[in-house]
Amino acid sequence: MNRRIFLKKGMVTAGLLLGPVPLLPSCARNLRSELMVASPMPGGSTLSREAWQILHHASLAPSGHNTQPWVVEIVSETEWIIGSDAKRWLKVVDNTNREVLLSLGTFIENLVQAAAATGFHAQVDVVARDRFDTRIARVNLSRMAPADIPLNRLASRRTVKTNLLARELKLADVTAFSRATKGNLYYFPRGTRHCDLMEKEAIDNFKLQFDNQKAMEEAAIWTRLSDTEARKFRDGLTTDGMEINGISGWVVRHFMDKKDVTGTTFREKGIEKTMKQAGEGAGWLVITSDGTSVKDLIECGRRFQRMALLAREKMIAIHPMTQALEEKHGQKNIRENHKPEMMPQFILRVGYLEKYPDPVSLRRPVDWFLARSGTFL
Ligand SMILES: Cc1cc2nc3c(=O)[nH]c(=O)nc-3n(C[C@H](O)[C@H](O)[C@H](O)COP(=O)(O)O)c2cc1C
Repeated sequence: MNRRIFLKKGMVTAGLLLGPVPLLPSCARNLRSELMVASPMPGGSTLSREAWQILHHASLAPSGHNTQPWVVEIVSETEWIIGSDAKRWLKVVDNTNREVLLSLGTFIENLVQAAAATGFHAQVDVVARDRFDTRIARVNLSRMAPADIPLNRLASRRTVKTNLLARELKLADVTAFSRATKGNLYYFPRGTRHCDLMEKEAIDNFKLQFDNQKAMEEAAIWTRLSDTEARKFRDGLTTDGMEINGISGWVVRHFMDKKDVTGTTFREKGIEKTMKQAGEGAGWLVITSDGTSVKDLIECGRRFQRMALLAREKMIAIHPMTQALEEKHGQKNIRENHKPEMMPQFILRVGYLEKYPDPVSLRRPVDWFLARSGTFL
């Protein structure tokens, strides 16, 4: 082992063993606020400022592994086609494109809300019939009075994985979530049998996925451990997005690379972190869909996002833990322990927060996901 590798291994182990510690002054930076400041619209764009604003806010939507699987074709000022970018599909863990369509649903919901806030009604028609189609939905915009929707609601939402309180969700909050998801919601509070099952499945299937070399290689492709990579791609899972903070975050950013993601240290620390997280919070939410067509999944993604935006206002953390729906073992156990006809699409850990943290995950600028006419057909 040469000196550099020895030093790197020592630093990585030491850093990860220290675990999350309070942010050091030198570690306290937020790439999102640094890269995605104020006016994101570059000069020379052919888009109107309003269109730019709508698409920028649409792109703040969550997506599995932060792949941002959207592409937008501007047919005219008032007609846009939302496409699915095949280069951004997760072919190992999401080989049916279920999560791609849920993620496109979250993007569409943000788009509709941002359009309304900007003074446009966005009529969305899902045109895809097959989950592998690349033309997904047609959007037609027409002028209306701006709706009372603060754009900051879209900009300040994030996935939150730590510091979830155990206090049970209030009935009024669960009822509001149920309304946002049109009744397709189950809440399993901590201490119930179903909550224990969700916790066990989250951990067991996370472990299974860590033992699946192909799944880990795919995850490694979407990790952006160093700041250089994060700045270059503006997508994927950054160290901050994975909530590897403080000294650990500094060590990972400077000394780890994609090869380490499939190694034992990452696995052991990942499992330890997942076990701790899965045991925290007010329990679990499950969002189901009406069916499994493209339209059903887009609609389910939209409902999830409506709920997630509401959760932001209520200081409630939402943490999707999807492995149980990706692995056959988890799918079988969840089906057997609930109604067989139940179609779960999101498994979410929830909990009130004392303080809602600033968003940190990155997004590509709008012009990076614009397609020239017909290019994603
Ligand atoms: C369909 C879907 C599945 C997801 N699955 C997971 C997951 O299993 N574990 C996790 O930590 N986050 C998961 N997420 C959250 C994403 O990683 C997150 O949205 C993305 O990194 C962007 O970060 P943000 O939500 O803070 O903007 C999922 C999100 C979506 C939409």
